[in-house]
Amino acid sequence: MTAITPLDAAFGAEIRGVDLAAGAGEALMRLLTGALYDHRVIVIRDQSLDEESYLGFGRQWGEPIPHVLDHMRMAGYPELMTVGNTEKRDEDPKIRNGAALWHTDQSYEKAPASATMLYSIVAPAEGGETQFCDMAAAWDNLDEAMKRRIAGIRVAHKYGRGKRRADEPPANPIANDEQDSRVPPVWHPLVMPHPVTGRRALYALGHGAYAIEGMADAEAEALLDELKDHALEERHIYRHKYAAGDLVVWDTLQTMHAATPIGVATGKADSRLLWRISVRGRPAVHAEAA
Ligand SMILES: [Fe+2]
Repeated sequence: MTAITPLDAAFGAEIRGVDLAAGAGEALMRLLTGALYDHRVIVIRDQSLDEESYLGFGRQWGEPIPHVLDHMRMAGYPELMTVGNTEKRDEDPKIRNGAALWHTDQSYEKAPASATMLYSIVAPAEGGETQFCDMAAAWDNLDEAMKRRIAGIRVAHKYGRGKRRADEPPANPIANDEQDSRVPPVWHPLVMPHPVTGRRALYALGHGAYAIEGMADAEAEALLDELKDHALEERHIYRHKYAAGDLVVWDTLQTMHAATPIGVATGKADSRLLWRISVRGRPAVHAEAA
């Protein structure tokens, strides 16, 4: 019996009674996508998937995006990426903690991610949370004057650019000019209606957002700072502590997220390994939605 239960948190929902190894048919995908649109983050518990079944599930949410950092892709599965602290490369804190700043996946691309998922293979006893920010609630909670001021604004995004808070590390660095040339600056609306539900949200105030169209740099920086501070108020935040088998999906168009910094694994108790898929476009079951 499938059960959808709102988390004891500002937003998000937990889903139990689902076995995705058996595949997800249309009815289940409607249930899961509906839960995502209602709650922005869904935590599907107790999954047991291999690379193929996970990728098959991911493809039902949209078109998987091979990451611009192609050295981070999983061997044999370019649409998957491992995230954690157990591999040789994770000894470098710039890689291991390269997502420990507020960001929105692929906001630096013309067609950004619509959903991202992390499937927990190994979960540490302590730490390793993913923090989420509800950007739909952040929009709702702006005063009317600010809503009017920012409607229609476009923001410039570029991987690695943009201001960070004092407590945010830099993003996982681009490795070479060839990678850099694949992600020129792009513009996105600051306020975006959701492509399926139409619900409005603030979009991508974290890593990569660096300028506003037609606005002087100092004024743009102050406005982006003010909106980011508002979005990151505690009432808009959920921190997910993983159990092995959790498959967490988030609506990338209506949230920001940040990893929490973690050390290199020394044994099983402090090891962290997740598989990541990021997709763009609509889920197949909502291909016709208005
Ligand atoms: Fe991310």
